[in-house]
Amino acid sequence: MPNIVVLTGAGVSAESGVPTFRDSNGLWEGHRIEEVATPEGFAADPVLVHQFYNLRRAALQTVAPNTAHQALAALERAWQGDFLLVTQNVDDLHERAGSQQLIHMHGELLKVRCEGCGAVHEWTGETGLSSRCPACAGVGQLRPHIVWFGEMPFEMDRIFAALEQADLFLSIGTSGQVYPAAGFVTTARAAGAHCIELNANRTEISAAFHEHRIGPASIEVARLVAEWIEPPLR
Ligand code: APR
Repeated sequence: MPNIVVLTGAGVSAESGVPTFRDSNGLWEGHRIEEVATPEGFAADPVLVHQFYNLRRAALQTVAPNTAHQALAALERAWQGDFLLVTQNVDDLHERAGSQQLIHMHGELLKVRCEGCGAVHEWTGETGLSSRCPACAGVGQLRPHIVWFGEMPFEMDRIFAALEQADLFLSIGTSGQVYPAAGFVTTARAAGAHCIELNANRTEISAAFHEHRIGPASIEVARLVAEWIEPPLR
């Protein structure tokens, strides 16, 4: 059975009501990336950054997985070969849909990290300068467990090992503007994988893919998964 690597971006959660970054009304429209998604921005104004992530964390209580998340969880359950889902998203919608072989390469909204002792904690409430680390009891040292611009994404070795063994690479709902994720297709293609891009629009990296499915993820992912795990009766 072939090995598959799936990469998702904000487009897979858009129909759940989670704003993307670069579409109109995207998250970056209201904020300068430098102010809320860099270590320098956090050092300069930690209150603003805590508030930015507190709002996004709270918004997660109001959204639910859509059929694209559910289809990917069904694909993982049915898949006989190796399966890895790498998401750039920091929401928990893939988990809530049932995905398990999952890497959050840009971190998770529902986790915080202590800059004093390095401990990572599940966190659903607000964070701020008075928040106390449950491990070391340090105050004011918690930060969102999010990979900011200029920081190294998580689990890159494991991701590249999977890409180099991939027979299928599926990229869903990402604009292909942020590396290293935007370069995964190049690694998978060099490994001989059949590469499929699934997006509402064409992207800057569309030319790197063998196949394109243009449309909303909630429809196109469900359609593709149905083709793969419920092949038509011969
Ligand atoms: N179905 C499919 N694709 C969609 C849908 C949809 N319903 N809605 C939007 N899209 C596509 C857009 O066409 C676009 O290509 O999703 C993509 C969203 O692109 P971005 O907003 O750039 O999000 P993403 O690619 O995930 O950003 C990557 O950049 O800012 C950083 O860390 C942040 O993880 C993020 C990374």
